[in-house]
Amino acid sequence: MTAKILDGKKIAQDYQANLQSEVTALQAEGITPNLTVVLVGNDGASLSYVTSKKKAAEKIGMSSDIIRLAEDTSEEDVLTVIRKLNEDPTVHGILVQVPLPQQINETHILEAIAPEKDVDGFNPVNIGRLYAGVETFIPCTPLGIMELLKHADSDLTGQEVAVIGRSHIVGQPVAKLLTDSNATVTLLHSRSRFLKETLKRSDIIISAVGKPGLVTKEDVKPGAVVIDVGNTVVDGRLQGDVLYDDVKEVAGAITPVPGGVGPMTITMVLNNTLIAAQRTKQ
Ligand code: GUN
Repeated sequence: MTAKILDGKKIAQDYQANLQSEVTALQAEGITPNLTVVLVGNDGASLSYVTSKKKAAEKIGMSSDIIRLAEDTSEEDVLTVIRKLNEDPTVHGILVQVPLPQQINETHILEAIAPEKDVDGFNPVNIGRLYAGVETFIPCTPLGIMELLKHADSDLTGQEVAVIGRSHIVGQPVAKLLTDSNATVTLLHSRSRFLKETLKRSDIIISAVGKPGLVTKEDVKPGAVVIDVGNTVVDGRLQGDVLYDDVKEVAGAITPVPGGVGPMTITMVLNNTLIAAQRTKQ
């Protein structure tokens, strides 16, 4: 058996085409959605991520700006930039790329982003809203994973899902969304005692650890859906957590790295920015 490839690049393209129509409609009402990204420092991977987000936004008719700040910028100076963006009616989505340099407290920054412009869904207010079941911005990678799962032809109701990694950005929110979709989720992490056994009985595996080779063919039940969120650079190449070539022989569906979850995350940033712009009409 060879797995169905969940082609994130193609799925993202189709999704973005729909977003583009909605952007055009909003522009006809005089609103051009704007995504402003703040990047502190010179990390190469972060620069490449934010450039991709800006390009994708512009491609569907949004405007997008990148505000670059020096590596040694103080926390107060970053906060000043955010407060200005919060007040600017032409800015609909604000995204501060993480990780931040060590002199800056990440929580202070995320808390400063106006919740109605927090298109990443990282402000603790929005995280709380998610768990309270109140309208919010849902983090983009979990949203992208849920969209990919729609293309795996599997009804989530009653499915056993193993999520590896308990971050606030991916593992925990995706576990929440899956639970809301009637799946039964086991949230695994570095201290879990029965990791391999849990993987083996799962209908869906979502790995968000950043450890190449973590999920092997032996861990996967035949026909299971495997979503690989890992993106570790090894010898200049991006690698997921899953041994893709082996696992695709047993899985029912699988995401490649690159070209799986990554393009979906970017797409959901655009989705949330569009929603933020649409909400300014209300
Ligand atoms: N760093 C890695 N992924 C992300 C993301 O989705 N959003 C932000 N703000 N920073 C990131």
